[in-house]
Amino acid sequence: MNMSQSKEEILIEALPYIQKYEGKTFVVKYGGAAQTETELKHRFAKDVTILKKIGINIVIVHGGGKEITDTAYKLGIETQFVNGHRFTDKKMVDVVQMVLAGKINKEIVNLINQNDGESVGISGVDNNLLTAEKYFEDGQDIGLVGHIVDVNIPFLQMFLTNRLMPVIAPFGVGTDGTIYNVNADLAAAAVASALKAEKLVYLSDVEGVIANKQLVSTLTEQHARELFGEGIINGGMIPKVKSAFSTLHAGVKKVHMIDGRKKHSLLLEIFTDEGIGTELVL
Ligand SMILES: Nc1ncnc2c1ncn2[C@@H]1O[C@H](COP(=O)(O)OP(=O)(O)OP(=O)(O)O)[C@@H](O)[C@H]1O
Ligand SMILES: [Mg+2]
Repeated sequence: MNMSQSKEEILIEALPYIQKYEGKTFVVKYGGAAQTETELKHRFAKDVTILKKIGINIVIVHGGGKEITDTAYKLGIETQFVNGHRFTDKKMVDVVQMVLAGKINKEIVNLINQNDGESVGISGVDNNLLTAEKYFEDGQDIGLVGHIVDVNIPFLQMFLTNRLMPVIAPFGVGTDGTIYNVNADLAAAAVASALKAEKLVYLSDVEGVIANKQLVSTLTEQHARELFGEGIINGGMIPKVKSAFSTLHAGVKKVHMIDGRKKHSLLLEIFTDEGIGTELVL
Protein backbone atom coordinates (compact mmCIF):
# COMPACT_ATOMS: atom_id res chain seq x y z
CA MET A 1 0.00 0.00 0.00
CA ASN A 2 1.21 3.53 -0.70
CA MET A 3 -0.36 6.87 0.07
CA SER A 4 -1.38 7.52 -3.54
CA GLN A 5 -3.58 4.43 -3.67
CA SER A 6 -7.31 4.96 -3.69
CA LYS A 7 -9.59 3.17 -1.24
CA GLU A 8 -10.73 0.72 -3.91
CA GLU A 9 -7.12 -0.07 -4.91
CA ILE A 10 -6.31 -0.83 -1.29
CA LEU A 11 -9.29 -3.18 -1.06
CA ILE A 12 -8.35 -4.88 -4.33
CA GLU A 13 -4.80 -5.42 -3.10
CA ALA A 14 -6.22 -7.06 0.04
CA LEU A 15 -8.57 -9.44 -1.81
CA PRO A 16 -6.12 -12.26 -2.68
CA TYR A 17 -4.89 -12.30 0.91
CA ILE A 18 -8.45 -12.49 2.22
CA GLN A 19 -9.12 -15.46 -0.08
CA LYS A 20 -5.82 -17.13 0.80
CA TYR A 21 -6.24 -16.89 4.55
CA GLU A 22 -9.91 -17.73 5.00
CA GLY A 23 -10.21 -20.69 7.40
CA LYS A 24 -6.49 -20.55 8.30
CA THR A 25 -5.12 -20.08 11.83
CA PHE A 26 -2.93 -17.15 12.89
CA VAL A 27 -1.29 -16.83 16.28
CA VAL A 28 -0.63 -13.27 17.40
CA LYS A 29 1.85 -12.60 20.19
CA TYR A 30 0.70 -9.30 21.66
CA GLY A 31 3.75 -8.02 23.51
CA GLY A 32 3.41 -6.14 26.75
CA ALA A 33 5.74 -3.57 25.23
CA ALA A 34 3.10 -2.80 22.56
CA GLN A 35 0.26 -2.39 25.05
CA THR A 36 1.13 1.10 26.14
CA GLU A 37 -1.38 3.66 24.84
CA THR A 38 -5.15 3.28 25.11
CA GLU A 39 -5.62 4.27 21.48
CA LEU A 40 -3.22 1.55 20.31
CA LYS A 41 -5.00 -1.06 22.39
CA HIS A 42 -8.32 -0.10 20.79
CA ARG A 43 -6.79 -0.37 17.31
CA PHE A 44 -5.34 -3.78 18.10
CA ALA A 45 -8.77 -4.97 19.26
CA LYS A 46 -10.30 -3.72 15.99
CA ASP A 47 -7.59 -5.33 13.85
CA VAL A 48 -7.96 -8.81 15.34
CA THR A 49 -11.74 -8.51 15.13
CA ILE A 50 -11.54 -7.67 11.41
CA LEU A 51 -9.28 -10.68 10.82
CA LYS A 52 -11.72 -12.93 12.64
CA LYS A 53 -14.73 -11.51 10.79
CA ILE A 54 -13.17 -12.36 7.43
CA GLY A 55 -12.84 -15.97 8.53
CA ILE A 56 -9.31 -16.26 9.95
CA ASN A 57 -8.98 -18.22 13.20
CA ILE A 58 -7.15 -15.90 15.57
CA VAL A 59 -5.41 -17.05 18.74
CA ILE A 60 -3.79 -14.36 20.88
CA VAL A 61 -1.01 -14.92 23.39
CA HIS A 62 -0.20 -11.78 25.33
CA GLY A 63 2.76 -10.60 27.35
CA GLY A 64 2.79 -7.99 30.06
CA GLY A 65 6.40 -7.62 31.03
CA LYS A 66 6.35 -3.92 31.83
CA GLU A 67 3.24 -4.13 34.02
CA ILE A 68 4.59 -7.16 35.89
CA THR A 69 7.79 -5.25 36.61
CA ASP A 70 5.85 -2.13 37.74
CA THR A 71 3.50 -4.09 40.02
CA ALA A 72 6.37 -6.11 41.48
CA TYR A 73 8.20 -2.85 42.19
CA LYS A 74 5.14 -1.42 43.99
CA LEU A 75 5.04 -4.57 46.12
CA GLY A 76 8.75 -4.27 46.92
CA ILE A 77 9.78 -7.27 44.78
CA GLU A 78 12.94 -6.87 42.76
CA THR A 79 13.01 -7.80 39.06
CA GLN A 80 15.97 -9.51 37.43
CA PHE A 81 16.33 -10.75 33.87
CA VAL A 82 18.60 -13.53 32.62
CA ASN A 83 18.93 -13.43 28.80
CA GLY A 84 15.47 -11.90 28.48
CA HIS A 85 13.86 -14.35 30.95
CA ARG A 86 12.42 -13.06 34.22
CA PHE A 87 13.94 -14.61 37.35
CA THR A 88 10.82 -15.91 39.11
CA ASP A 89 10.54 -16.82 42.79
CA LYS A 90 7.26 -17.73 44.55
CA LYS A 91 6.35 -14.08 45.17
CA MET A 92 7.04 -13.17 41.53
CA VAL A 93 4.96 -16.05 40.17
CA ASP A 94 2.01 -14.70 42.19
CA VAL A 95 2.54 -11.25 40.64
CA VAL A 96 2.79 -12.78 37.16
CA GLN A 97 -0.55 -14.56 37.59
CA MET A 98 -2.25 -11.56 39.14
CA VAL A 99 -1.15 -9.13 36.45
CA LEU A 100 -1.44 -11.40 33.41
CA ALA A 101 -4.62 -13.35 34.13
CA GLY A 102 -6.31 -10.93 36.52
CA LYS A 103 -5.74 -7.66 34.75
CA ILE A 104 -4.19 -7.67 31.29
CA ASN A 105 -6.05 -10.70 29.95
CA LYS A 106 -9.44 -9.30 30.97
CA GLU A 107 -8.58 -5.88 29.61
CA ILE A 108 -7.72 -7.30 26.16
CA VAL A 109 -10.78 -9.56 26.09
CA ASN A 110 -13.04 -6.69 27.09
CA LEU A 111 -11.65 -4.41 24.36
CA ILE A 112 -12.07 -7.08 21.68
CA ASN A 113 -15.59 -7.86 22.82
CA GLN A 114 -16.53 -4.18 22.67
CA ASN A 115 -15.81 -4.57 18.96
CA ASP A 116 -17.96 -7.72 18.81
CA GLY A 117 -14.86 -9.92 18.41
CA GLU A 118 -16.24 -12.73 20.61
CA SER A 119 -13.09 -13.47 22.56
CA VAL A 120 -12.59 -15.61 25.65
CA GLY A 121 -9.72 -15.21 28.12
CA ILE A 122 -7.96 -18.33 29.35
CA SER A 123 -4.63 -19.09 30.95
CA GLY A 124 -2.26 -22.00 30.57
CA VAL A 125 -3.76 -23.51 33.72
CA ASP A 126 -7.32 -23.70 32.36
CA ASN A 127 -8.07 -27.29 31.41
CA ASN A 128 -4.27 -27.83 31.41
CA LEU A 129 -3.95 -25.75 28.25
CA LEU A 130 -0.18 -25.34 28.65
CA THR A 131 1.73 -28.13 30.39
CA ALA A 132 5.13 -26.88 31.48
CA GLU A 133 8.38 -28.16 32.92
CA LYS A 134 11.09 -26.21 34.68
CA TYR A 135 13.28 -24.29 32.27
CA PHE A 136 16.99 -23.65 32.69
CA GLU A 137 18.49 -20.75 30.77
CA ASP A 138 21.94 -21.75 29.56
CA GLY A 139 22.11 -24.20 32.47
CA GLN A 140 21.16 -21.50 35.01
CA ASP A 141 18.35 -22.02 37.53
CA ILE A 142 16.05 -19.03 37.12
CA GLY A 143 13.36 -20.18 39.55
CA LEU A 144 9.76 -20.98 38.67
CA VAL A 145 10.23 -20.44 34.95
CA GLY A 146 8.82 -23.08 32.68
CA HIS A 147 8.90 -24.13 29.08
CA ILE A 148 5.94 -25.73 27.42
CA VAL A 149 5.98 -29.44 26.78
CA ASP A 150 2.36 -29.92 25.73
CA VAL A 151 -0.54 -27.81 24.43
CA ASN A 152 -4.14 -28.98 24.86
CA ILE A 153 -5.07 -28.60 21.21
CA PRO A 154 -8.61 -30.11 21.38
CA PHE A 155 -9.44 -27.51 24.05
CA LEU A 156 -8.20 -24.67 21.82
CA GLN A 157 -9.96 -26.12 18.79
CA MET A 158 -13.20 -26.14 20.76
CA PHE A 159 -13.09 -22.33 20.87
CA LEU A 160 -12.10 -21.98 17.21
CA THR A 161 -14.82 -24.37 16.02
CA ASN A 162 -17.33 -22.25 17.89
CA ARG A 163 -15.96 -19.07 16.32
CA LEU A 164 -14.54 -17.76 19.58
CA MET A 165 -11.16 -16.04 19.80
CA PRO A 166 -8.98 -17.44 22.60
CA VAL A 167 -6.81 -14.91 24.42
CA ILE A 168 -4.12 -16.74 26.39
CA ALA A 169 -2.31 -15.58 29.53
CA PRO A 170 1.03 -17.36 29.29
CA PHE A 171 1.79 -19.35 32.36
CA GLY A 172 1.98 -23.09 32.44
CA VAL A 173 1.20 -25.84 34.90
CA GLY A 174 3.43 -28.79 35.77
CA THR A 175 2.06 -32.31 36.06
CA ASP A 176 2.42 -31.89 39.86
CA GLY A 177 0.37 -28.66 39.79
CA THR A 178 3.32 -26.24 40.05
CA ILE A 179 2.59 -23.00 38.24
CA TYR A 180 5.41 -21.75 36.06
CA ASN A 181 5.99 -18.35 34.52
CA VAL A 182 6.48 -18.93 30.80
CA ASN A 183 7.95 -16.24 28.55
CA ALA A 184 5.07 -15.11 26.31
CA ASP A 185 7.15 -15.50 23.14
CA LEU A 186 7.87 -19.13 23.97
CA ALA A 187 4.21 -19.70 24.79
CA ALA A 188 3.05 -18.14 21.51
CA ALA A 189 5.57 -20.21 19.59
CA ALA A 190 4.52 -23.45 21.31
CA VAL A 191 0.84 -22.72 20.59
CA ALA A 192 1.55 -21.82 16.94
CA SER A 193 3.66 -24.96 16.47
CA ALA A 194 1.09 -27.25 18.08
CA LEU A 195 -1.71 -25.72 16.00
CA LYS A 196 0.46 -25.89 12.84
CA ALA A 197 -0.58 -22.29 12.33
CA GLU A 198 -0.31 -20.57 8.97
CA LYS A 199 1.32 -17.53 10.53
CA LEU A 200 2.82 -16.35 13.80
CA VAL A 201 3.10 -12.60 14.26
CA TYR A 202 4.95 -10.98 17.16
CA LEU A 203 3.87 -7.42 17.96
CA SER A 204 6.39 -5.51 20.05
CA ASP A 205 7.75 -2.00 20.58
CA VAL A 206 10.41 -2.17 17.86
CA GLU A 207 10.14 -2.11 14.07
CA GLY A 208 11.48 -5.65 13.93
CA VAL A 209 14.96 -7.06 14.36
CA ILE A 210 17.45 -4.19 14.24
CA ALA A 211 21.12 -4.64 13.39
CA ASN A 212 23.54 -1.72 13.05
CA LYS A 213 20.62 0.72 13.41
CA GLN A 214 18.84 -0.80 10.41
CA LEU A 215 15.76 -2.94 10.16
CA VAL A 216 16.52 -6.46 8.94
CA SER A 217 13.59 -7.18 6.60
CA THR A 218 14.41 -10.85 6.15
CA LEU A 219 16.32 -12.68 8.86
CA THR A 220 17.74 -16.11 8.09
CA GLU A 221 18.69 -18.57 10.82
CA GLN A 222 22.37 -18.27 9.88
CA HIS A 223 22.25 -14.45 10.08
CA ALA A 224 20.47 -14.70 13.46
CA ARG A 225 23.28 -16.95 14.78
CA GLU A 226 25.79 -14.27 13.79
CA LEU A 227 23.73 -11.52 15.44
CA PHE A 228 23.47 -13.60 18.64
CA GLY A 229 27.23 -14.15 18.54
CA GLU A 230 27.86 -10.41 18.20
CA GLY A 231 25.40 -9.60 21.02
CA ILE A 232 23.27 -7.54 18.61
CA ILE A 233 20.20 -9.59 19.46
CA ASN A 234 19.85 -9.27 23.22
CA GLY A 235 17.36 -8.95 26.10
CA GLY A 236 13.72 -9.49 25.16
CA MET A 237 14.66 -10.14 21.53
CA ILE A 238 16.49 -13.38 22.45
CA PRO A 239 13.41 -15.52 23.29
CA LYS A 240 11.55 -13.93 20.37
CA VAL A 241 14.09 -14.90 17.71
CA LYS A 242 14.85 -18.33 19.19
CA SER A 243 11.17 -19.23 19.49
CA ALA A 244 10.47 -17.88 15.99
CA PHE A 245 12.92 -20.32 14.44
CA SER A 246 11.62 -23.21 16.53
CA THR A 247 8.13 -22.62 15.09
CA LEU A 248 9.46 -22.54 11.52
CA HIS A 249 11.16 -25.89 12.18
CA ALA A 250 7.85 -27.16 13.57
CA GLY A 251 6.11 -26.38 10.28
CA VAL A 252 4.57 -22.93 10.82
CA LYS A 253 4.66 -21.34 7.38
CA LYS A 254 5.36 -17.69 8.12
CA VAL A 255 6.77 -15.83 11.09
CA HIS A 256 6.88 -12.05 11.31
CA MET A 257 7.94 -9.45 13.85
CA ILE A 258 6.22 -6.12 13.55
CA ASP A 259 5.92 -2.81 15.34
CA GLY A 260 2.87 -2.81 17.59
CA ARG A 261 3.27 0.96 18.12
CA LYS A 262 2.48 1.61 14.49
CA LYS A 263 -1.18 2.17 13.56
CA HIS A 264 -2.84 -1.01 12.27
CA SER A 265 0.53 -2.70 11.64
CA LEU A 266 -1.10 -6.11 11.85
CA LEU A 267 -3.46 -5.36 8.96
CA LEU A 268 -0.67 -3.83 6.89
CA GLU A 269 1.53 -6.88 7.35
CA ILE A 270 -1.21 -9.30 6.38
CA PHE A 271 -3.03 -7.49 3.58
CA THR A 272 -0.41 -5.61 1.63
CA ASP A 273 2.18 -6.75 -0.88
CA GLU A 274 5.23 -5.14 0.71
CA GLY A 275 4.72 -6.41 4.25
CA ILE A 276 6.48 -4.65 7.12
CA GLY A 277 8.89 -5.48 9.92
CA THR A 278 11.10 -8.57 9.90
CA GLU A 279 10.21 -11.87 8.27
CA LEU A 280 12.12 -14.83 9.67
CA VAL A 281 13.10 -17.61 7.29
CA LEU A 282 15.12 -20.80 7.69
N1 LIG B 1 18.54 -6.57 17.76
C1 LIG B 1 17.42 -6.14 18.32
N2 LIG B 1 16.44 -5.61 17.54
C2 LIG B 1 15.30 -5.13 18.10
N3 LIG B 1 15.03 -5.15 19.42
C3 LIG B 1 15.96 -5.67 20.26
C4 LIG B 1 17.20 -6.19 19.74
N4 LIG B 1 17.92 -6.65 20.78
C5 LIG B 1 17.20 -6.41 21.88
N5 LIG B 1 16.02 -5.83 21.61
C6 LIG B 1 15.03 -5.44 22.61
O1 LIG B 1 13.91 -6.33 22.61
C7 LIG B 1 12.79 -5.59 23.10
C8 LIG B 1 11.50 -6.33 22.83
O2 LIG B 1 11.34 -7.39 23.74
P1 LIG B 1 10.47 -7.20 25.09
O3 LIG B 1 10.51 -8.51 25.80
O4 LIG B 1 10.93 -6.00 25.82
O5 LIG B 1 9.01 -6.86 24.53
P2 LIG B 1 7.76 -7.81 24.26
O6 LIG B 1 8.22 -9.23 24.14
O7 LIG B 1 7.03 -7.21 23.13
O8 LIG B 1 6.88 -7.63 25.57
P3 LIG B 1 6.53 -8.78 26.68
O9 LIG B 1 7.84 -9.41 27.06
O10 LIG B 1 5.89 -8.00 27.77
O11 LIG B 1 5.60 -9.71 26.01
C9 LIG B 1 12.93 -4.28 22.37
O12 LIG B 1 12.25 -3.23 23.03
C10 LIG B 1 14.45 -4.05 22.36
O13 LIG B 1 14.85 -3.25 23.42
MG1 LIG C 1 9.27 -10.22 25.80
